Amino acid sequence: MSNTYGEFPAARPRRLRTTPAMRRLVAETRLHPAELILPAFVREGATTPVPISAMPGVVQHTRDSLRKAAVEAARAGVGGIMLFGVPEEEKKDAIGSPGTDPDGILQVAIRDVISEVGDELVVMSDLCLDEHTDHGHCGVLDADGRVDNDATLERYAEMARVQAAAGVHVVGASGMMDGQVARSRQALDGAGYQDVSILAYTAKYASAFYGPFREAVGSSLKGDRKTYQQDPANFRESMRELALDLAEGADMVMVKPALPYLDVLSKVAESVDVPVAAYQISGEYAMVEAAAANGWIDRERAIMETLTSVRRAGASMILTYWATEVARQL
Ligand code: PBG
Repeated sequence: MSNTYGEFPAARPRRLRTTPAMRRLVAETRLHPAELILPAFVREGATTPVPISAMPGVVQHTRDSLRKAAVEAARAGVGGIMLFGVPEEEKKDAIGSPGTDPDGILQVAIRDVISEVGDELVVMSDLCLDEHTDHGHCGVLDADGRVDNDATLERYAEMARVQAAAGVHVVGASGMMDGQVARSRQALDGAGYQDVSILAYTAKYASAFYGPFREAVGSSLKGDRKTYQQDPANFRESMRELALDLAEGADMVMVKPALPYLDVLSKVAESVDVPVAAYQISGEYAMVEAAAANGWIDRERAIMETLTSVRRAGASMILTYWATEVARQL
């Protein structure tokens, strides 16, 4: 039996796949707890955590259960937490007043989490109006019912200031209004919060996969967000948004959703010298949980595979509802 080149495959990539130890050694992508960020919802007035039916395993926290979840995340080595407030229904109004109330639920939650684990976790907050408005849009509406960009920027400026005053480390500018990063930066700097960072939701698509989030924040949105979030058909547009956000002073940028937009993520990650986040959103979570609950896929493997893919595509940080669970496994 000769071993002449040509007779057998000259190269055998399978050699590097032979054993678990070998595969571990040559793995090109590794997940680390520190790069995971846990998104968390806190509901005003809740006395027990409220399950979110479209997101099995995720709840609207009480103030108390949020503190505990933050401690658990920190203990597991998770890098950050992204907070969303769910105000009492009767406090919501057309301009999203709870979002700028110093005692609004989000500000209260920021203070709670900062006092609990502020030294261990990077504490982030959603800088957007949809959780706080009675119409469910991410901004204020003009007389014709359209989202008024520049009037909304003034609301975001005020929100940035109250979130910073509550002690937040990073604001997540997620509303997709033009100029939101620049206006938020100006507002923060003007109030002496130079050290509060801005995570810009740079490429944020108008996605069907946000569905379960609407339940998570009790949103009453009718219609859609297509006049401010991006068309899934577009790629170049994300590059334009990226250039604008960087010019406006974004400290970190994000692509959202994650899995259906890995091409965008990959290109953004190649193009910048700031940290790049990806948000594995509610619908991505729900898909895996639903299929796993039916016995159709292996839950743990699917979770790891999706996160690894997002990391491989170039994300330096990943927001995922599985953050604490995954961090424990790593
Ligand atoms: C805006 C915001 C949304 C999400 C995060 N921030 C909703 C939206 O833009 O429609 C969705 C996150 C998820 O689906 O997990 N406040």
